[in-house]
Amino acid sequence: MSRQRLNIGLFGFGVVGQGLYDVLQKSPAQDVKIIKICVRRKINRSLPDNMFCYNPDEILENEDINTIVELIDNADDAYHIVKKALQYGKNVVSANKKMLAENLSELVKLAKEMNVSLLYEASACGSIPVIRNLEEYYDNDLLLSVTGILNGSSNYILSKIFDHNQNYQEALLEAQKLGFAESDPTFDVDGFDSLYKLIILTMHSFGVIVKPDEVLNYGISNISEFDINYAREKGYKIKLVGQVERLQNKKITLFVLPRFVTKDKYIYSVEDEFNGVVIKGLAYDKQFMFGKGAGGHPTGSAVLSDITALGHFYRYEYKKATYFGGFQYFKEGAIEVYLRYRNPDVLQNFEFSSVSEEYHGPEYHYKIGFMPLDKLIAIKEKLRTLDIFLAATGKTLNY
Ligand code: HSE
Repeated sequence: MSRQRLNIGLFGFGVVGQGLYDVLQKSPAQDVKIIKICVRRKINRSLPDNMFCYNPDEILENEDINTIVELIDNADDAYHIVKKALQYGKNVVSANKKMLAENLSELVKLAKEMNVSLLYEASACGSIPVIRNLEEYYDNDLLLSVTGILNGSSNYILSKIFDHNQNYQEALLEAQKLGFAESDPTFDVDGFDSLYKLIILTMHSFGVIVKPDEVLNYGISNISEFDINYAREKGYKIKLVGQVERLQNKKITLFVLPRFVTKDKYIYSVEDEFNGVVIKGLAYDKQFMFGKGAGGHPTGSAVLSDITALGHFYRYEYKKATYFGGFQYFKEGAIEVYLRYRNPDVLQNFEFSSVSEEYHGPEYHYKIGFMPLDKLIAIKEKLRTLDIFLAATGKTLNY
């Protein structure tokens, strides 16, 4: 099998960039060399000064560099770097889920036009090879749903709360110290990171590119002792879950919400910064992928895997969009949720189509019932500002 030599220009030397560098030392890939590393300011590492540069064009305009590995934090800067790199005819490996989810259509088209490869296994679920499997192994029409814990930081926080009685703030600080959290942890705890990953997985599952703004994402930042006790009493854990599901008539639905998870589910025992993805399909029923979803070395290993695949000229073929296209995003279904609130006035924001359980206490109240998904999407920004907590029970109704 033929191989190509990869001369790499690396952007970013933070948690994942350094992780990749270390992983490469452990597993020196043949025909792979990091030529230059572009950073915003000098890094205190035992690497020669001439390895670093501060102007992206020094890498982008270097004709000896045929591959860009983009591992920076800022999604807008990442977009400009990746776009320019593709326009210069260079292969790109990226881990930037926000940048990819927001610009997938344009970048995929550009990579195709320029006849280069754009790979991003590390952008979703860290070390778990979920994208490549959706692309290669699940390259048929059997897939029914992809459901999982896609964010390591929020799972780390929930694990510490549920299993170690730690408080939310303490656990978040730890997730930040360990390098799991984004520089703005709102991304993690409010479900944006999971949303971007879900958008990418949806493309590789069903060939549909959905705009992040049009998908419900609600996270765990409003969770209270009351919600935790409610879940404990029922024998549930609360996990932040992203789900894309195939409905009848070539429709798909997707959302990110905290979820009550019962002991019999695979994701119940996914703890700490681990991610877990359940893939459900006709014929094979359920399969479960599990692994570290955050951290420099696990994520660096996924970047390395893209690099070595690139050495063999690997590209995503976007098989679902090509062969099984025609799926449409459907927002008109209903999901069953637990809505915990303090002030009954808040209920005016919500429209329950049915209520199965209701509780009124001295401080908090809750209702469990079905709500139309599109109504929740319409107020998704507002949801975070209300004194409530929302969690899915796992039941959906699709009209
Ligand atoms: N902040 C992300 C997480 C990093 O916690 O999952 C990996 O994408």
